[in-house]
Amino acid sequence: MSLIQQLEWRYATKKMTGEKVPAEKLSNILRAIQLAASSLGLQPYTILVIENQAIKEKLVPAANNQPQIAASSQLLVFCAWTDITDKHVVAYIENIAKTRKVSTESLAGFKAMVDGSINSLTVEQKQIWASKQIYIALGTALAAAALEEVDATPMEGFNPQQFDEILGLEAKGLKSVVIMPIGYRAANDHLANAAKVRRNQSELFQFI
Ligand SMILES: Cc1cc2nc3c(=O)[nH]c(=O)nc-3n(C[C@H](O)[C@H](O)[C@H](O)COP(=O)(O)O)c2cc1C
Repeated sequence: MSLIQQLEWRYATKKMTGEKVPAEKLSNILRAIQLAASSLGLQPYTILVIENQAIKEKLVPAANNQPQIAASSQLLVFCAWTDITDKHVVAYIENIAKTRKVSTESLAGFKAMVDGSINSLTVEQKQIWASKQIYIALGTALAAAALEEVDATPMEGFNPQQFDEILGLEAKGLKSVVIMPIGYRAANDHLANAAKVRRNQSELFQFI
């Protein structure tokens, strides 16, 4: 099973069956998200994994009634931190120190660099920056789901303010950015067997 074969297999699933994704497959998808690259390594986001059916159903109207929300096995909601503070940076530096068995003092130069990058941004710019990191995690999640033969739909077609309200995200210091239901394609999904539409490589790439 190659990555290319699985990227050809996957598609943005419109109709799911409600069948549950086995725990090991879910775990591999979440591990891939955990391993996604992020700028400075800060991972300025939190991903909600919603399994509760009543909550998924409550979110349906806030997602243009798209049926994948309720018929998913899990709904992943990628949320940006509303702010990135010194507390986050200190926790990150401590994690590096613990993981790599080095002193926090030896990381002072790196911390100053991270502080410099973060502190040069307004709160709004930090949220935009966090959202960019989220899309890398989303792409990684899509590829990981495909490798697990789990269907997934990247979705921006929802109302983030309504999601934030329903999920009480403000109190958690989070803002929803993009969502990804995972599950299994329904046999009568009209796009299940549709050919992939992509721009030609000669248009997409310029070799210089
Ligand atoms: C950021 C993003 C947001 C998207 N939002 C939706 C959405 O709300 N609903 C939906 O059915 N598909 C959504 N799509 C799926 C795209 O329409 C789909 O990926 C694109 O047409 C390419 O088709 P494929 O992924 O099936 O190969 C979204 C895709 C991305 C990357």
